[in-house]
Parts: sequence; structure tokens; C-alpha cells
Amino acid sequence: MKIAILGGTGDQGFGLALRLAKKYEIIIGSRKREKAEESAENIKKILSSKGIPYRDVVGMENRDASQEGDIVILSVPYQHTLSTIKDLKEELKGKIVVSIGVPLAGVIGDKPTRVVLPPQGSVAQMVQEYLKDSKVVSAFQNVSAKVLECIDEPVDCDILVCGDDEESKRKVIEVVNSIEGCRGIDCGGLEMSRYVEQITPLLIGLNIKYKLKGSGIRITGLRR
Ligand SMILES: NC(=O)c1ccc[n+]([C@@H]2O[C@H](COP(=O)([O-])OP(=O)(O)OC[C@H]3O[C@@H](n4cnc5c(N)ncnc54)[C@H](OP(=O)(O)O)[C@@H]3O)[C@@H](O)[C@H]2O)c1
Repeated sequence: MKIAILGGTGDQGFGLALRLAKKYEIIIGSRKREKAEESAENIKKILSSKGIPYRDVVGMENRDASQEGDIVILSVPYQHTLSTIKDLKEELKGKIVVSIGVPLAGVIGDKPTRVVLPPQGSVAQMVQEYLKDSKVVSAFQNVSAKVLECIDEPVDCDILVCGDDEESKRKVIEVVNSIEGCRGIDCGGLEMSRYVEQITPLLIGLNIKYKLKGSGIRITGLRR
């Protein structure tokens, strides 16, 4: 299975690519093909230097990456989400699109410990409204890029997964569970994403207060 990461040149996309390349073919997407290719080379270099085996990692322009990926992770800043996906509707038709965006109030110059919600209630629901023919699944909002990039350590974070299409959600949970230390938890329909996305500003506040690299979450009491 091929996983495309649009904006995979950025912090979160890069961290996810590092972790997922062990099991999946990865396509780093960017607005610029050369930047994506450079990022892909960098990932391979890091994994090789640590002796970690990986599948193929390539770089492409976002449009080609959207076409090639079986699962497409949207890893662009909140405020650029709509402009990115409006242009890729055709390529993303029928695909599983993973929304990882957090609506931090930083976009209006306010604190990163607050949110500015889109009218739909969550970034994931906003994405689904504009990508009617894609299957949007929400995940990875509560894990920090800084933790993902520390490839020598397991992640230690539950990943809350929401979505209206059960089969797509199951596939994304499988992807999540491939990351050492992550546990994907089915949290119900896409509308639940509003609560998941709003946990992140709390975690950012904890990171600031306790000078943490990246706090995460665990849900207790679940039997597996
Ligand atoms: N960072 C974290 O710890 C973290 C944690 C949880 C969730 N998230 C979520 O993950 C997503 C990515 O976060 P990030 O920190 O990785 O962001 P980022 O590094 O600021 O940006 C990611 C990529 O987005 C692309 N981009 C920038 N401006 C753009 C524009 N105007 N139009 C289209 N693409 C643009 C850039 O790629 P190109 O220049 O190569 O196109 C950039 O490398 C966000 O939605 C964020 O809420 C982040």
C-alpha cells in the first residue's frame, strides 16, 4: 500500500514518513517536486544511517502524490487546507484522506493554546465537506512532530481515529498500529474529531508548562 503525505516536507509529515516508511511505500508531496525529492532522500538517509530497513520513499508534486497514494495524509497548515484540497478534488476522488489538522488560534495571531474552529466544527469535517467523494478519516492530531522524529524511541501515544466509513477507519487504524508505541482507537464518526482536535492545545499548554518535547495521551480501561 502507498501512503502519500501532502506537505510531507514539513515537521509532522516528515515525522510520520520516518515512522511509516518501515512498512509502507511513502510518497512525500510538496508544492515543489524538487523539495519533495530532497525530503525523500533525507528520510532514506536517516533510516539507512540507523540501520532501519524501509520500503520505497519518493518525492512528488502534491497533485501526482494525490493520484499515486492509496491513502493520502493531509499534512499542510490549517489555514492552507482548503486551498490545497480544492485544487485536488479529482485526484482525491474515492481515496482515503487522513485529516491531521488542528485548528490552532495561532492562525489569527492568538495563542497556540486556543482554537479557532472552522464553521463545520472540526478540520476533518471541513475537509469532508469539500471532498464529498473521498473518505475522510481523522487521526494523528495528538502526537507531536518532535516525538515522531525521535526514531530511536517508541512513540508512547494513543491515536484517536474518527471517521464515517468503517472500512477506511479500519485501514487507518492498521497504519497507526504499525508505528511502535502507537495504538489506534476507534472513536466513532467524523463529528467526534472536534473533541480530538481540541485536545492538542491542552497538550501544547502542558509542553510549555512542564518544558516537554511533546506530551501525548493514553486512554485507560480499554480491553483489546
Ligand atoms: N507539528 C506538529 O507537532 C503537529 C502535531 C499534530 C498535528 N499537526 C498538524 O499537521 C499539519 C502539518 O503541520 P506541520 O507542523 O508539519 O506544518 P508545517 O511544517 O508548517 O507545514 C507543512 C507543509 O505544508 C506546506 N505548506 C506551507 N504553506 C503552504 C501553503 N500556503 N499551501 C500549501 N501548502 C503549504 C509546506 O510544504 P511545501 O512547501 O513542500 O509545499 C510545509 O512543509 C497541520 O495541519 C498541523 O495542525 C502538527
